[in-house]
Amino acid sequence: IHNVVFESSSEASLLVAREIADLIVDKNNRGETCVLGLATGSSPIRVYDELVKMHRENGLSFKNVVSFNLDEYFPMNPESIHSYHHFMNEHLFNHIDIPKENIFIPDGTIAQQDIPAYCQGYEQKIKSFGGIDFQLLGIGRTGHIGFNEPGSHYNSITRSITLDQLTREDASSGFHGIENVPKKAITMGVGTVFSAKRIVLLAWGHKKAEVVKQTIEGEILPQIPATYLQEHLNTTMVLNTEAASMLT
Ligand code: F6R
Repeated sequence: IHNVVFESSSEASLLVAREIADLIVDKNNRGETCVLGLATGSSPIRVYDELVKMHRENGLSFKNVVSFNLDEYFPMNPESIHSYHHFMNEHLFNHIDIPKENIFIPDGTIAQQDIPAYCQGYEQKIKSFGGIDFQLLGIGRTGHIGFNEPGSHYNSITRSITLDQLTREDASSGFHGIENVPKKAITMGVGTVFSAKRIVLLAWGHKKAEVVKQTIEGEILPQIPATYLQEHLNTTMVLNTEAASMLT
């Protein structure tokens, strides 16, 4: 694991967006598809803003991009303003030229008994495009990546999980109270994330300082799934000064 610290998250986000844009252009020049693994939440918003800007102002095209989102709440209607489908449309997809059929986000409306087969299908889909070239991640205060909460196995694949209490508390303001936050989610597994050729994890602010310290300096433990990233050979943690403030 490699970490870089920036004074501002906006400056950091611009550099991450540039890395993604360069990869898209490079793949396009070779006539290849660029497979992106995408995250929701507050951390990647400015990266998406920058990508939208590059599309508008510099003609960056997403025609050769295929995207897989990490997770979706369960149950969750894609039309709901709380859905990650809605989030992605608002922050990115509605503003770029990615073909609709290239967008994959876990479906929060699947019938309970169909979830395992659905999740296998999601894994197969990723493999059918040759795997994820670039995976963008945030990190939860529980140490989750995607919604791989404490206890997640390093080999885990896409599946349904129960959200941690702390994760639901952190999401509660957007839902006007914790009682409205779904109890479950469908998430790519740790193994799914780990298969990505390149991983960039974003963490901003004091609230993330403790978990960032554990992720970078702590022992690799299933209690903090992000620590598994220590063994991934092409992972960069992109931090701002506040998020890095507890590193020794
Ligand atoms: C979102 C996701 C989560 C978030 C994490 C941090 O798709 O997979 O792991 O990245 O909960 O959320 P923020 O960025 O809102 O602090």
